[in-house]
Amino acid sequence: MKKLPLLGGLTPQQFLQEYWHKKPLLIRQAIPGFKPLLAKEELVAMAARDDVESRLVTHFGSRWQLHKGPFAQLPPFHKKAWTTLIQGVNLHHDGANALMQQFRFIPDARLDDLMISYATDTGGVGPHFDSYDVFLLQAYGQRLWRIGPQKDLTLVEGLPVKILQNFKAEQEFLLEPGDMLYLPPHYAHDGIAVGECMTYSIGFRTPSFQELGEGFLQFMAESIELPGRYADPDLPVTSKPAEINNAMLSRVAETLRKIKFTDDDVAIFLGEYLSELKPTVFFDPPARSTSLSRFLQLADKRGVQLSRKTRMLYRGRHVFINGESFVAGGADRRPLVKLADRRQLAPEDVANASKDVRETLHAWHEDGWISLRKPG
Ligand code: SIN
Ligand code: CO
Repeated sequence: MKKLPLLGGLTPQQFLQEYWHKKPLLIRQAIPGFKPLLAKEELVAMAARDDVESRLVTHFGSRWQLHKGPFAQLPPFHKKAWTTLIQGVNLHHDGANALMQQFRFIPDARLDDLMISYATDTGGVGPHFDSYDVFLLQAYGQRLWRIGPQKDLTLVEGLPVKILQNFKAEQEFLLEPGDMLYLPPHYAHDGIAVGECMTYSIGFRTPSFQELGEGFLQFMAESIELPGRYADPDLPVTSKPAEINNAMLSRVAETLRKIKFTDDDVAIFLGEYLSELKPTVFFDPPARSTSLSRFLQLADKRGVQLSRKTRMLYRGRHVFINGESFVAGGADRRPLVKLADRRQLAPEDVANASKDVRETLHAWHEDGWISLRKPG
């Protein structure tokens, strides 16, 4: 595998072995000469949209405050100590989406989103920890990161933002545009803007086992089949009518123990769960619908690409897209797996696909899940 400047000259394999989920890594000039993809005015405009998740954290005086967007107005740029954080910029902006794709040496199942923060001088979200891995790319201006491996993760009580009670930094780095800091989950950190600055966070998902378990049981509720009904032809007379008797308990327990699940069930659950979109995400179907034959004519010439918003995964013969799953057997699997891995299909891949796949691509086009590739 190639050594990447993005990882400070490490190969993705070396990075994963030595740092990923283990220890921080500072990478000077991970993207040399990096220029911000969006101006602060564009971020402010995004913070005003109701289909974009945004927050405002202020530290005026010594008081932490948190507000949830959308924001018709943010504090003035000349006022110190505030920061706005815009989640999922990759869903709305091609450049941000392309930047996030550089991190696909990590599976999509783990990738979450690209968040952008804009802060005025001294702004930040305070000393805290996150429960996920994150790459913090400095996009504009300077930010002082103070970080430490502390075990004491007690938070200050009663604050609207997560602030560590006893933050002790062990290292300090001043990040310039193009520099990047990788932090594993639970590594304490505090990023303070030195002058106005913008930071891009490429964040990963680490679902809790509780969340997975609850989701899986909901999924199983839709797929279990337990025929028959409770019966007790041997019921004795009771002198304790309010008691649930042993016979009932053991018969029901025995039946419930018959609920089994296979790795295939887990795969389908995971695929549907991890390809599900956040509730704020909506697709923009094309303004005019395109007939199947017209779509195929164009797709055979131009190929297709996934929308920035589409989440597509696969496992064996199961293919998952935006929370839905289906089985793609035989020759149907190949083009769909290619589309998921490359997020696009060349014209010849579309042309060679089966009738079923071609019709499916048309349906996805009508939903706004995929689009025709730009001509040329
Ligand atoms: C920020 O960009 O200000 C916050 C990122 C973080 O600390 O997780
Ligand atoms: Co953080």
